[in-house]
Amino acid sequence: MSKIAFIGGGNMASCMIGGMLANGFQAQQICVANPGQEKRDSLEQAYGVATTPDNHIAVAGAEVIVLAVKPQVMGAVAQELTGSIDADALVVSVAAGVQLADLQHWLGGDQAIVRAMPNTPSMVRYGAAGLFANNHVNTIQKHSIEAMFNAIGICCWVENEALIDAVIAVSGSGPAYFFLMMEAMQRVGQELGLPEETALQLTIQTALGAAQMAISSELDTSQLRRQVTSPGGTTAAAIAAFQERDIEGSFRQAMQAAVNRARAMASEFSDQN
Ligand SMILES: NC(=O)c1ccc[n+]([C@@H]2O[C@H](COP(=O)([O-])OP(=O)(O)OC[C@H]3O[C@@H](n4cnc5c(N)ncnc54)[C@H](OP(=O)(O)O)[C@@H]3O)[C@@H](O)[C@H]2O)c1
Repeated sequence: MSKIAFIGGGNMASCMIGGMLANGFQAQQICVANPGQEKRDSLEQAYGVATTPDNHIAVAGAEVIVLAVKPQVMGAVAQELTGSIDADALVVSVAAGVQLADLQHWLGGDQAIVRAMPNTPSMVRYGAAGLFANNHVNTIQKHSIEAMFNAIGICCWVENEALIDAVIAVSGSGPAYFFLMMEAMQRVGQELGLPEETALQLTIQTALGAAQMAISSELDTSQLRRQVTSPGGTTAAAIAAFQERDIEGSFRQAMQAAVNRARAMASEFSDQN
């Protein structure tokens, strides 16, 4: 049974651990390092995992090390661990905007490193994560990482690191696009006379229903949209109004803004400037 260390026991670590324990991982194989006592106590109580305030103790003998601290402290945390991490261990960073080149530089050597970009629905096990591995990650390590992220949703490997910025624009920031849409639908529903609670329930169930149809159908999203749009009907009128305002162009602009911000953050947290 391989030992897995989490450095940082906050929201992301907690949701990964919860998902992993529900999917065949054992509490005895997990150790979490976190400076705050309160979070350590609550992780011990909720999951029965070992905790420590000392990052070096957590990584000793670990085969997989998940760096789950904020991007701002990643450099200091990684550099401090150099020498304590087994040479053949796999390091996974979930920090948004921290580049592989920096992690490699901080950790030194030929460490196997995966850069992962999870998203907030991981909290409810409907996460979508993008993964990118450096050349030192072997197939067995890739499978163990897939098992960890599949425990909190789905995951996909991307072919080059730059594509992690595209993952950020699609799934990393994506939940907020849907919340924004749902917020607007709920508000307009109320303006059209529905009680607040009714507008909310109908909006949420509609989002869920559309996602379920997209998952279970063999049709692609464009075909599904056409299928529910009868010519001359109410949906056709609504879709035409969206298209007049170039909805796809709005998404293009918004998602490019997310990519640009991801690039700016990467250079903010980088040592390589
Ligand atoms: N939350 C998400 O949905 C999400 C999505 C994608 C990516 N991420 C990434 O996941 C990472 C963690 O995010 P989060 O939301 O889990 O943040 P968080 O809840 O603030 O967790 C970070 C944890 O790191 C601990 N920490 C601070 N300094 C440390 C050190 N020197 N050594 C060990 N632990 C230390 C903090 O402990 P104390 O609070 O006790 O100081 C805190 O518990 C970030 O890099 C973020 O970009 C998160």
